[in-house]
Amino acid sequence: MLHVANLEVVYHSVVRVLRGVSLNVEEGQIVALLGPNGAGKTTTLRAITGLLPIHQGRATKGTIKLKGKELLRQSPDVIVRQGLAQVMEGRRIFTELTVEENLTAGAYSRRGKTWREDLGQIYDQFPVLAERRQQQAGYLSGGEQQMLAISRAWISRPKLLILDEPSLGLAPQIIAQVADMIRTIQKTGVSILLVEQNAAMAFKLADYGYIMENGKIVLDGPTDELQKDRDIQEFYLGGEGDHRRNYRDIKRYRRRRRWLS
Ligand SMILES: Nc1ncnc2c1ncn2[C@@H]1O[C@H](COP(=O)(O)OP(=O)(O)OP(=O)(O)O)[C@@H](O)[C@H]1O
Ligand SMILES: [Mg+2]
Repeated sequence: MLHVANLEVVYHSVVRVLRGVSLNVEEGQIVALLGPNGAGKTTTLRAITGLLPIHQGRATKGTIKLKGKELLRQSPDVIVRQGLAQVMEGRRIFTELTVEENLTAGAYSRRGKTWREDLGQIYDQFPVLAERRQQQAGYLSGGEQQMLAISRAWISRPKLLILDEPSLGLAPQIIAQVADMIRTIQKTGVSILLVEQNAAMAFKLADYGYIMENGKIVLDGPTDELQKDRDIQEFYLGGEGDHRRNYRDIKRYRRRRRWLS
């Protein structure tokens, strides 16, 4: 479905933030991209969605293919038409519009009338949105806004849905609801690339995971295997603290360990 290879990105022509990133999302999969603050997760998503230029960023190397079609250096609207939808950090909903108007806006790019059925399906699946359909979206809770943002992206019927930290700032109970929603969407046949700092949530949802540190993928694998990795437990799942904590990331820690042995 999505194939990213050897991607390098610089900001302002000087700061090299991604240093050869490769990752794949297979059809129907949820793939998680995890990593600490500043690792380059959002930058990777901006490269995929064509939003780098807005941020003075540029891909200097690599390829990004969606179903075999090159996305790199295409404009965001062309990319959206290839079947990609995204919910960026901080869930950008239209706060002045009602819930239903937000969803209608999400369906805008679709031809035909079937989106009304999808609207019904959203209301059936996610009753919180149905109850508030005429309410101004700005008055929804954080979790409800996140669900609205995800639903709005889903109603455009993407092949690939990209989510940047959907759990950010939400209480654990609400995170579980958002996770359920993501799983429900996967079941409609959508592939999902999920960026998260909440590794526990991401591991529960995703089929495959990539760990990014300092602009590089340092580990990847099926999530049930990654979860068993002691370093991942320590760094990302909050294992019992030992000396590893003194290292900022897995890569540094492993380099140091090799050096010591
Ligand atoms: N527009 C920009 N201009 C210059 N540097 C930038 C720009 N946007 C991001 N960066 C830098 O690129 C690096 C990667 O940032 P990015 O936002 O991709 O990380 P992230 O993994 O999404 O982090 P977070 O978890 O905090 O969201 C950081 O060092 C950041 O300061
Ligand atoms: Mg980010």
